[in-house]
Amino acid sequence: MIIAITNQKGGVGKSTTAINLAAGLAMEGYRVLLIDLDPQANITKVLINPDEEVPLQRSLYNVIINFYPLSNIIQETKTTNLFIAPSHIRLSGADLELSQALDNRSERLKRALLPIMKDFDHIIIDTPPSLGLLTINAFAACEKVLIPVSAGFFALTGLVQLQETIGMVKQTQLNPNLEIMGVLCTFYEHTNVSRDVEKQLREYFGEQVFETLIPKNIRLEEAHSNHTNIFVYSPASSGAVAYKELVKEVLER
Ligand SMILES: Nc1ncnc2c1ncn2[C@@H]1O[C@H](COP(=O)(O)OP(=O)(O)O)[C@@H](O)[C@H]1O
Ligand SMILES: [Mg+2]
Repeated sequence: MIIAITNQKGGVGKSTTAINLAAGLAMEGYRVLLIDLDPQANITKVLINPDEEVPLQRSLYNVIINFYPLSNIIQETKTTNLFIAPSHIRLSGADLELSQALDNRSERLKRALLPIMKDFDHIIIDTPPSLGLLTINAFAACEKVLIPVSAGFFALTGLVQLQETIGMVKQTQLNPNLEIMGVLCTFYEHTNVSRDVEKQLREYFGEQVFETLIPKNIRLEEAHSNHTNIFVYSPASSGAVAYKELVKEVLER
């Protein structure tokens, strides 16, 4: 399954969900590839040794802009079965460079994935906080979209625009079978605001909302700074328990 983790809003838990969902699937024995399509390279910084800077040539920039083979940039991580295609800060210019490109600017990632798809059971794509061409590349390349929504005030703003963009990708034949796999409520707290957001999400998206609620849990952030996932860093934490449940739900969908 190829899953893009998307919400054009920043700080909603996309990268955290990408890392922990991918790690959880890898720990279940699946071969998993994480694609860090965000120029901020959060996932890359967490999972690749910070002393070894990823060279531009060995990053997704080279794959998206110069058609360099994706297989040449994939690296192992400390987690068995989990591999990463690293980002690079230069990817921040890729949206502009792509907008001037003439051939298949929305299908660069899709094409790059074709020769390596069979090597992985699951591919998880982390996307930048925008609906630009990099995110469109993710929508064209994936089968399903997972949308994390942070359970705070203004949680729902932008979701209509996101749905419209997904609809546009389907209509223009870029990816006619694209589907929303699910909406994931993140940063959940036992407050009225969180409960309201959850209620509104369930009213609006119905069954598409995952049963699993990802709690606000500082351990999730600490795991990043320890360059690992939540299952290794704090297996008994509420964050680990929740992401484990999410892995189960994703496998059922
Ligand atoms: N459930 C959570 N509880 C507490 N902190 C979280 C949680 N999810 C993410 N964070 C932290 O919040 C920040 C934003 O999360 P991140 O996953 O990077 O969001 P995005 O990729 O959508 O911008 C990061 O510092 C991350 O460590
Ligand atoms: Mg992110």
